[in-house]
Amino acid sequence: METVKSIQADTKNDININTEVPVTEPQRQFYYMDLAKQLVSERTKACGHPLTFHVETFGCQMNARDSEKLRGILETIGYEQVDTEDADFVIYNTCTVRENANNKVYGRLGTLGSYKKKHPQMMIALCGCMMQEEHVVERLKKDFRFVNLVFGTHNIFKFAELVVRALTEKQMVVDIWEGTTEIVEDLPVERKYSFKSGVNIMFGCNNFCSYCIVPYVRGRERSREPKDIIREIERLVADGVVEIMLLGQNVNSYGKTLEHPVTFAQLLREVEQIEGLERIRFMTSHPKDLSDELIEVMAQSKKICKHMHLPLQSGSSRILKAMNRHYDKEQYLTLVDKLRAAIPDIAITTDIIVGFPGETKEDALETLDVVRRVRYDSAFTFIYSKRSGTPAAEMENQVPEQEIKENFDMILKEVQHIATEKAHLIEGQVQPVLVEQINEHDASLVTGRLSNNSVVHFPGDSSLIGKIVDVRLAQCKGFYYIGEQV
Ligand code: 5AD
Ligand code: SF4
Repeated sequence: METVKSIQADTKNDININTEVPVTEPQRQFYYMDLAKQLVSERTKACGHPLTFHVETFGCQMNARDSEKLRGILETIGYEQVDTEDADFVIYNTCTVRENANNKVYGRLGTLGSYKKKHPQMMIALCGCMMQEEHVVERLKKDFRFVNLVFGTHNIFKFAELVVRALTEKQMVVDIWEGTTEIVEDLPVERKYSFKSGVNIMFGCNNFCSYCIVPYVRGRERSREPKDIIREIERLVADGVVEIMLLGQNVNSYGKTLEHPVTFAQLLREVEQIEGLERIRFMTSHPKDLSDELIEVMAQSKKICKHMHLPLQSGSSRILKAMNRHYDKEQYLTLVDKLRAAIPDIAITTDIIVGFPGETKEDALETLDVVRRVRYDSAFTFIYSKRSGTPAAEMENQVPEQEIKENFDMILKEVQHIATEKAHLIEGQVQPVLVEQINEHDASLVTGRLSNNSVVHFPGDSSLIGKIVDVRLAQCKGFYYIGEQV
């Protein structure tokens, strides 16, 4: 696996680990990284081979970015990355947005437990959204006692300190915070790709959609200062990055809680000015906060990709109200019209939940109607999952599985049919493609993405990785293209 180190350590002063533990961050974490380095080096000597680590990420882009931060620390303290789970240090960065995400983790932990029986020195850590749920931690303490370290979403910046504890204490180390207002800058990050990167612009969510557990496990909305974001992107660009993805649960409400409020559109205007940066993406946009100013900035921009992920969730105004989404069917459709009027070739993608409590056939048909009218370029369609602690879990009119399945299949079929039709519309065109990797199945091809996020495979070699090249979309294969460089 290709990885790129970008240690942003200009705040790291010379740290002497014999002195007192610093109280301010990030200095405190650099102190613990030095301490961890010593511990890892002792263990390495004792076992006679380099210690390895593996981070497994479940869930969204936000988690993927958090995993890069975990990798940054582990590389810094002397572990080497491997692709398999028979490593000396394995971390699961978990998701809990749907029930099956939790089940997956319990299942995989069982397997990990049997590895550990054979290698008692192995370290196992769990973090991420699922760990913010009390019942999960209780179950881990009861059924998975071999886990060394459990921490949550709010204290991930303390990972170095927690690793030192886990390496030196005999019992399971559990550190879960209920929330935080802290944002710690300048810790090491180990990027998966040399040429593209996620950039957190905010953490948490204030929306409390009634089905969603995220506000409970990720806490209240906190935005990073624009100057910190710009500085991070400038450093990334200096390090070879050409595409960034600005990350937040609801990027359209970025900056509202800052001491000097800034809009997301204003932030984008500043990011656009960064020389050397070629492409800007962002995720996720809540329809209720999508401003005319943002549409205008997107329409004028040369760098913002022609793609908007705009979660619909449901096409029924009645269900949207019960979901606490703060928009109705007509408002959503008007927004899509505005986007298309300003940016005619924009790709629009979405998330849809089928089977929310009280959803009838008529409601599902309303969703189908929106799917047909918007004609999404692609859509993630989910079956409603009851998350305990959310208001929707308490609703009495939960929908029987069989009914959900029927509506789900109906909507999914239409989504796929339309997505294929839409993909064919640009067949034959020449478009810029950012080459991401060698094709996973055929080494004579490379794989890249269009501005609208579609995937293209075309003949090429590794020298193209990270470059933006013009490609003719010779053949549309439904969800992807086979192309040729021009
Ligand atoms: N059940 C099913 N899907 C959900 N999502 C969020 N919560 C749930 C749930 N309880 C979906 C939403 C969101 C996406 C990230 O996950 O569609 O946009
Ligand atoms: Fe969940 Fe709604 Fe926040 Fe998205 S906006 S994370 S769906 S509560």
